[in-house]
Amino acid sequence: MCGSEMKFLDTKLSEDGCPAELLSIIKTVLSGCKKVSNILSSGDFNHLSFEPNAAKHDDEIQTLSAISDNILKNLLIGHTHLKAIASKQDGQITSVNEDGKYLLSFDPLDGTSNIDVNGLVGTIFSITLSTDWLSSFSEKQFIKPGELIQAAGFVLYGPTTSLVLTTGKGTHIYKLSREYGDFVLLRDNIVIPKDTREFSVNIGRQKYWPERIKKFVTQFIDGRYGTGKKDYSLRYSGSLVGEIYRILCRGGVFLYPQEGTRRHRLGNGKLRLVYKVMPVSFIVEQANGLAFADKMRVLDILPTTMTQRAPLIIGSKHEVERYVKADKKGESNAQK
Ligand code: F6P
Repeated sequence: MCGSEMKFLDTKLSEDGCPAELLSIIKTVLSGCKKVSNILSSGDFNHLSFEPNAAKHDDEIQTLSAISDNILKNLLIGHTHLKAIASKQDGQITSVNEDGKYLLSFDPLDGTSNIDVNGLVGTIFSITLSTDWLSSFSEKQFIKPGELIQAAGFVLYGPTTSLVLTTGKGTHIYKLSREYGDFVLLRDNIVIPKDTREFSVNIGRQKYWPERIKKFVTQFIDGRYGTGKKDYSLRYSGSLVGEIYRILCRGGVFLYPQEGTRRHRLGNGKLRLVYKVMPVSFIVEQANGLAFADKMRVLDILPTTMTQRAPLIIGSKHEVERYVKADKKGESNAQK
């Protein structure tokens, strides 16, 4: 892209009518993400891949999340327009400024099991308006449906450091230009294709799924010989940010279902509702996709706690609708 065609993040957000306070918070988050990107791309932790002591290894990987968390918190804690922040890392609410207009929740490093294989990881965040009558220390202020998100995004630390961002005016993708030290618009107004030939799920866990989920996923595997009548390819990166980025670029459907047959630990799925599921659902719906937490549209859910998990099916609209329809049909048959 030649210099004159480049559009920087500030320009794009101003064009979208993003309020100055919100823009300033987003830019603070991103300055932290740039630091995280530098650490990750330096590869200075790569020797850990060969660490024979697995327990120590996990601790060190954990440390990278903690480092990202500290970087972001240190920058955000002084922000005038933030009332409070919530991080998945410690599950704590940190009060910032009682008069701040916004709240920010974030997952400093999603997909950490990918770090030692040089795979995809990312920082996920979402911003909502604060509530006047609730204290900045209260968890309750964060408990609101995804529909009220003012901005959601994630930074993907891949071969290129990319930013996926929406302020409710479509979803756009930016890349981090090393030359300018800033995010430059790469793809404007993403539209996820309604149909797809790619599905994404940890198939190794199907033994734990309820029968109806197994049946639905079997349709992808049966392909043209099943009810779907077309062949699908399986794509699985083991990183939510990686799956969502791919879906935004070329469509697809990703599931992390509830598990309830033999092992109940993930009876509500694995992914955290507030820190991961709600932001990515907002991003995907702004790009013409759809996101359901089993029977309910994700953005209509009122969370009960910050640590709550939710099952997720997300991506190309027709595929998610097919799931919802199959589920309803299953229920009405059961009632007959
Ligand atoms: O929640 C963390 C996470 O790494 C997500 O990024 C990813 O989608 C999921 O877990 C992968 O889980 P599993 O290893 O069980 O497939």
